[in-house]
Amino acid sequence: MILEAKNIIYSYKSKRDTMVLKNVSVSFEEGKFYAIVGSSGSGKTTFLSLLAGLDNPVSGKVKYEGEDIQKKGLNYHRRHHISLVFQNYNLIDYLTAEENVKLGGENNATKLLREVGIPEEGWKRNVLQLSGGQQQRGAIARALASEAKVLLADEPSGNLDEDTAEEIIELLKKTAHELGKCVIVVTHSKQLADEADEVLEIQEGKLHKMTTK
Ligand SMILES: Nc1ncnc2c1ncn2[C@@H]1O[C@H](COP(=O)(O)OP(=O)(O)O)[C@@H](O)[C@H]1O
Ligand SMILES: [Mg+2]
Repeated sequence: MILEAKNIIYSYKSKRDTMVLKNVSVSFEEGKFYAIVGSSGSGKTTFLSLLAGLDNPVSGKVKYEGEDIQKKGLNYHRRHHISLVFQNYNLIDYLTAEENVKLGGENNATKLLREVGIPEEGWKRNVLQLSGGQQQRGAIARALASEAKVLLADEPSGNLDEDTAEEIIELLKKTAHELGKCVIVVTHSKQLADEADEVLEIQEGKLHKMTTK
C-alpha cells in the first residue's frame, strides 16, 4: 500500500453545513490503475485534491507509505510524492512541449516525449500548436518526468474524442502496469472505468468498491 485515506470527512469552508465526504477510507497500491467514478458534484475532484495534499480534511488522514502527509507537510507531499494531470492539460502555454516536460523533472524529456507518442517534429513546438490529444500526452510526459510514485488525473480524457481518449487510457494503464506507478483517475467515462483494475464510486459522500479484477 502506498497511499491511504483514513476516515476522511470533508466540507468546504464556505459551506460547512454540507458534507462532501462522509468518512471515506480506502487504500491504493503501486502498479495498479484505479478509476474513481460518480455523478457530477459527488466529490471526485474534492477527494483527489485531498489525496494530492491540496487541502486538509476536516477530520481523518491521508497517509503516504504509512505516514500522515501532514507530518512532512502538504507541500512536501505535493512536491515529492504526487504528479497531477488535469482535464484541460494545464501546460504552460508559452513553452514548447519539451520545456513543459522538463518542468516535471530535468531528466529524460525527449525519451518521455517519444514514449508517450508525441511525434518528434512536435517537441520544439509551442504546446498550443499541438492537438488536444498531443497536449494531454505532453501533460502525462510531464507527470512521468517526476519521480513521484503516484499519478493523479482528473478527467484526463474529458476533452478528447473517443479514439484519442482510448489512447490516453492505454498510456495511463501502461504507466501503472509497466512503470509500476499508482495511477488514480477520476472519470465520467465508462470506457475508461472498464479498463481499470479497480473501480471506486463516490455516492452521497461515501466511497464504494465496484469491481476488482
Ligand atoms: N471551492 C468550493 N467551495 C464550495 N463548494 C465546492 C467547492 N468546490 C466544489 N464544491 C462543492 O462540493 C461538491 C463536490 O464537488 P466536486 O468535488 O467538484 O465534484 P465532482 O468532481 O465529483 O464533480 C459539489 O457540491 C460542489 O458544488
Ligand atoms: Mg470534478
